[in-house]
Amino acid sequence: QDFDIGSNTVQNYTISPNSHFHVVTHNRGDGRKYPELMLDKALDREEQAELTLTLTALDGGDPPGSGTTIVRIEVVDINDNVPEFLQSLYEVQVPENSPPNSLVVAVSAQDLDAGTYGYIRYTLFQGNQVTQPFVIDETTGEIRLSKTLDFETIPYYNVEIAGTDGGGLSGKCTVAIEVVDVNDNAPELTMSTLTSSTPENSPETVVAVFSVSDPDSGDNGRMVCSIQNDLPFLLKPTFKNFYTLVTERPLDRESQAEYNITITVTDLGTPRLKTQHNITVTVSDVNDNAPAFSQTTYTLRVRENNSPALHIGSVSATDSDA
Ligand SMILES: *[C@@H]1O[C@H](CO)[C@@H](O)[C@H](O)[C@H]1NC(C)=O
Ligand SMILES: *[C@@H]1O[C@H](CO)[C@@H](O)[C@H](O)[C@H]1NC(C)=O
Ligand SMILES: *[C@@H]1O[C@H](CO)[C@@H](O)[C@H](O)[C@H]1NC(C)=O
Repeated sequence: QDFDIGSNTVQNYTISPNSHFHVVTHNRGDGRKYPELMLDKALDREEQAELTLTLTALDGGDPPGSGTTIVRIEVVDINDNVPEFLQSLYEVQVPENSPPNSLVVAVSAQDLDAGTYGYIRYTLFQGNQVTQPFVIDETTGEIRLSKTLDFETIPYYNVEIAGTDGGGLSGKCTVAIEVVDVNDNAPELTMSTLTSSTPENSPETVVAVFSVSDPDSGDNGRMVCSIQNDLPFLLKPTFKNFYTLVTERPLDRESQAEYNITITVTDLGTPRLKTQHNITVTVSDVNDNAPAFSQTTYTLRVRENNSPALHIGSVSATDSDA
């Protein structure tokens, strides 16, 4: 408004310098002027959410008079930003046997939009093969175990996570989970051949053939195998994880007829786990002893004129064979 008349009334409008708007002064039929604010280039709420401009009305006087007012422009959000994960790939290692509900990793996405357009809900794609043993917190993005993992069954998981904003736009990331082996399996021994009886006097004889196994990986699955070292037996590795138990020298049943052998299989993991297997080997007899008299010469004295069937003494021979 300008109460003057003619060229002394409002002639022109200007706006303070800015990068988005200019003002155009229009003529009304009655000679009065009005301003129109024109947008020159698209606004971006995420860059500048509010603009404050000064609008000046100038009259045609000499010198010109002017009046100003403030125009505040609020930029209203549209859902023009997709949620973006901080990392497109998260790589984590989880020891097997971690208890259910253990934290695996927390993923996080950002969305520059405001309000619900910027609010992200996290979801985990369950593959159509096996149900993955993970759950994700919809709000925090924390991924936890829903059951214990077993390295020996599945050593590696690839999980796809989506972050979806309130306007339906979504971003994705991948979580690569490596299951770390824990020494949770004791070695196992499988006996394939066992001869419970071995003849004496024979040279190197096979008593047992067996294999050992441990499904753990690395040192957790590496094994050593031993027997007591005071026995006349030897453990011979044959091919991978197979052993034969043989006699070290000919045995003598007459000095020891039975041996109790404990085979111990230990893995090299932490803690060390072991398995023991007891076998009893009996030494079978061979007729290697001739009967022997207790004396080389017996002298028996008998009176003459003896009655028949008189007991005149005894001789004896022994044989240590069975
Ligand atoms: C209005 O003001 C602008 C900026 O000062 C100037 O460029 C323009 O020529 C003026 N228009 C009139 C009709 O005086
Ligand atoms: C072997 O073990 C059995 C049963 O434990 C025992 O009766 C026997 O005396 C042991 N034999 C040897 C030679 O130690
Ligand atoms: C094997 O024998 C040893 C020594 O006699 C004994 O300590 C161990 O308990 C036995 N183990 C098995 C599995 O019978």
